[in-house]
Amino acid sequence: MTVQYKENHRPQFHFSPKEKWMNDPNGMVFFNEEYHLFYQYHPHGTTWGPMHWGHAVSKDMIHWEELPIALYPDEHGAIFSGSAVVDWNNTTGFFEDAPGLVAIFTHADNYPGTELPRQRQSLAYSKDDGRTWVTYEGNPVLSDVDITDYRDPKVFWHEETNKWVMVLATGQTVTIYTSTNLREWEFASVFGMNEGSHDGVWECPDLFQLPIDGEQENKKWVMLVSIGDNPKFKEGSRTQYFVGDFDGTTFLNEHSEEAVLWLDYGRDNYAGVSWSDIPREDGRRIYIGWMSNWRYANQLPTEEWRSAMTLPRELSLTSTAAGLRIVQSPVAEINSIRGEAESFKDLALDENKPISYKISELTEIEVEFEKETAELFGLSVMNSKEEKTTISYDAVKELLIVDRTAAGDNSFSESFAAIQEAPLNMDGETINLQIFVDASSIEVFANSGRIAVTSLVFPHEKANKVNLFSKEGTANVRQLTLTPLKSIWSM
Ligand code: FRU
Repeated sequence: MTVQYKENHRPQFHFSPKEKWMNDPNGMVFFNEEYHLFYQYHPHGTTWGPMHWGHAVSKDMIHWEELPIALYPDEHGAIFSGSAVVDWNNTTGFFEDAPGLVAIFTHADNYPGTELPRQRQSLAYSKDDGRTWVTYEGNPVLSDVDITDYRDPKVFWHEETNKWVMVLATGQTVTIYTSTNLREWEFASVFGMNEGSHDGVWECPDLFQLPIDGEQENKKWVMLVSIGDNPKFKEGSRTQYFVGDFDGTTFLNEHSEEAVLWLDYGRDNYAGVSWSDIPREDGRRIYIGWMSNWRYANQLPTEEWRSAMTLPRELSLTSTAAGLRIVQSPVAEINSIRGEAESFKDLALDENKPISYKISELTEIEVEFEKETAELFGLSVMNSKEEKTTISYDAVKELLIVDRTAAGDNSFSESFAAIQEAPLNMDGETINLQIFVDASSIEVFANSGRIAVTSLVFPHEKANKVNLFSKEGTANVRQLTLTPLKSIWSM
């Protein structure tokens, strides 16, 4: 028997459930010194099925303790995605002595006597730090017979208007509702009719403020919207965002004429949303996504468990010539799993002179390339079978390319082998990359988090070397740092 958390392909520094199927992260909230992570969970199989909310807690968002299932399907249906908040002022009336947690989620069943899906919003609350939950007797609290895809409520407290705000995925729009008590909701507005990508059904919205260029006094609102898989597009399910203003009622997209803004250019970051109630002194906006894609999620080559989350990432905005853009980087707490780094400087690359270094199977690679004459340069993360994931910069087309076509097992889905491309301008004459190599994923952050590319990979052997190269000319590696990472399951 294989040891738990040591199974083939088991992520070593990303959260995955002990066993069975997981999809979207849900109800992330910080309360009483704990980060909570709930998630879409099917405890009876390794494919999607009747949804429960699984539950894990952490002190640092890196080391997780899995707890018993928080929410089970009940007379109103299965428990789809949603959010959780701290009801600090007992607006609900659920709490007498101390503030507690309220989960706002979608109940999914069928209209009685039919096969027609019905999705309605409901509440549950906990007085013991999320260990046990009571479903509200007045459930569901919000429904609309005219809208079939009506789900994934994300709720936050809007200080200026003294109200709770809910963003809800409604077909191919996001509908905004407000409330004073989480139990009664009022329609506020609809966003998205002619905005962004409509390649698939809209799911899992989020709405929050982010500082611009690190200035806490200077903020804009950002809306995240995941879009579901549509066989017509090779990317499968993915996540877009909008930047603009929100007055408590209406979200205005500042750049409605713009091309679609993608949160991640990799195939495997979906349905992500942000943590609620991060303390003001901390001030971060922290995001986590489901590291998979509906195109093939049910077929991934794992046996005991299926799916992991991305690394938790801090989000902010940066101003670029093209407008405001999201920047993301793994939370600083990742430091707790870093081992002793090795650094190298000024490595000259040319066509016939690739340079290799041994790496540990779990590694962070930080590298700064200087272009010189090369048309293309980059690195491959490899194993002893010469399987490789290649991360390169095409200086002619100004594209960051993450190629996993030769990374390992591709056989389980025709859509899996992929060359993922992201538009990326050079930062002066250089490109910097921060890359996290886990047992079955590679996360790339380019130019200090301006571009993220998250990919699953299923190599037949563990990674053991990195190979740096240039093509059609020379490039200089100004700096290369290799940091071995520790498994979160070993302590
Ligand atoms: C997104 C999603 C949500 C839904 C949940 C069901 O991945 O389709 O819209 O609530 O998964 O598990």
